[in-house]
Amino acid sequence: MVSISRAKTYESSAIRKLEQQVWKDKDCTGKYENAYLSRFGYVFVAKEKNKIIGAILAMKTAKEEIYVEDVIIHPKWQGQGLGKRLYETLFAACGNFPILALVNKTNEASIKLHKELGFKGVKKVKNPFGIDVEAESFLMRREKKE
Ligand SMILES: CC(C)(COP(=O)(O)OP(=O)(O)OC[C@H]1O[C@@H](n2cnc3c(N)ncnc32)[C@H](O)[C@@H]1OP(=O)(O)O)[C@@H](O)C(=O)NCCC(=O)NCCS
Repeated sequence: MVSISRAKTYESSAIRKLEQQVWKDKDCTGKYENAYLSRFGYVFVAKEKNKIIGAILAMKTAKEEIYVEDVIIHPKWQGQGLGKRLYETLFAACGNFPILALVNKTNEASIKLHKELGFKGVKKVKNPFGIDVEAESFLMRREKKE
C-alpha cells in the first residue's frame, strides 16, 4: 500500500536521489535546496514499505502563490495515480492559493496531468533555468478555488 505523508527534513537526500534517478541526471538540482523546502515549504512523499517512490516539492512565493519545483514518480510506479494523489495532498495542504508549475513543452504526460488537475497554460518560457537555450517550458497555473 502506498501512503502519502509530509516529508521530513532528513528525507531530503532520498528525495534528491529519486530526482536524479527519474531525471537521469546526476547533477539534477532544483532552484532551492530540498532540505530547506522540506522544512519550510510544502513537500510530500509517496512511500511504499518505507521507501520513497514519489515526491512533490513546492513552496510559497513572496506573491502568495505556491510554486511547484518538482513532481516525480519512480518509473515503476508511474501511471498508477500517484502523481495525482500527491497533487491532491498539496491542494489540501496549501489552501486557497494559486499554484504555478513549469512544465517542459515536450512533457506530454505532465502537461496532461496538470490540465486534468485544473492548470492552464499561462505563457511559454524560453531557457527557464538559464542552462539550456534550446529548452522551452510552459508556465502553468491553477487558480485558487473560491
Ligand atoms: C508526470 C508524472 C509526475 C505523473 O505522475 P503519475 O503518477 O505517473 O501520473 P498519474 O498516474 O497520477 O496520472 C494522472 C494523469 O496524468 C496524465 N498522465 C500520466 N502519465 C501519462 C502518460 N504517460 N501519458 C499521458 N498522460 C499521462 C493522465 O491525464 C493521467 O490521468 P488518467 O490516468 O485519468 O488518464 C510522472 O509520470 C513522472 O514522474 N514523470 C517523470 C518526471 C516528470 O515529468 N515530472 C513532471 C515535472 S513538471
